[in-house]
Amino acid sequence: MRTTIETISRTAERGERFTMVTAYDYTSARIVDRSNVSAILVGDSLGMVVQGHDSTLPVTLDEMIYHTRAVMRGAEHPLVVADLPFGSYAIEEDAVRAATRLMAEGGCQSVKLEGGTAVAETVRRLVSLGIPVMGHLGFTPQSVHAIGLRVQGRGALQARRLLDDALALQEAGAWAIVLELVPAELAQAITDRLEIPTIGIGAGPGCTGQVQVWHDILGLYDEFVPRHARQYRTFAADAAAALDEYTEHVRTGAFPGPEHASSWDAAAVALALSEPE
Ligand code: KIV
Repeated sequence: MRTTIETISRTAERGERFTMVTAYDYTSARIVDRSNVSAILVGDSLGMVVQGHDSTLPVTLDEMIYHTRAVMRGAEHPLVVADLPFGSYAIEEDAVRAATRLMAEGGCQSVKLEGGTAVAETVRRLVSLGIPVMGHLGFTPQSVHAIGLRVQGRGALQARRLLDDALALQEAGAWAIVLELVPAELAQAITDRLEIPTIGIGAGPGCTGQVQVWHDILGLYDEFVPRHARQYRTFAADAAAALDEYTEHVRTGAFPGPEHASSWDAAAVALALSEPE
């Protein structure tokens, strides 16, 4: 059975922590499906870790739908949340169209969008149409060129604004809020003042749940490891070693072996390929 928003909200009410991880394709969704992770985020971080861009901004709605569909084919159990990409929800009517497509064509159970008070009315509209919305505050990657890649909410004014944004999202009907790169004490204080779950990334242990990027925690992209991530495995190094082993085996003739192909009688092959008399 699939995890629902209600299941996650109840988990949070009981004070139990939960996890969300990004996934962008069928195979990784199958792996999450075998784990105890509650939710998948089809994040627009795919623009960086899958497509190789230097920000999330170039990701299109069609690409988000494409990846969400692939994830949905693999994820039977986790709740699936997909990001509305940059520019797709700046105007309310566009937001309705984009979120409707992401839900209907992508098949996810919730959308996520970035921003606070400025997007509260959009959140209200989407929720009124039956589209569950997850908010995203603190460092919001789609605004990287405006705010810089840095911790958000330091200083009384910024901290107060962050809390007001969180309360505005909650009041508008968001069911959860991602807090990214927020001082741990502030994330804890915001979490304490909200009724809906917070999901932290670089925001300390006081959030209700945690989210991490697939490539970061599995060590698939190890040229840069963000401070907020812990590498639980080093699969990039393992994969490179495996590829070297494969190359070595092909060079030495250790692979492929007889078990890796079907066989036919050599005499029959010779006969079949012989020139007709
Ligand atoms: O796109 C993404 O992966 C995200 C997470 C970092 C929360 O928004």
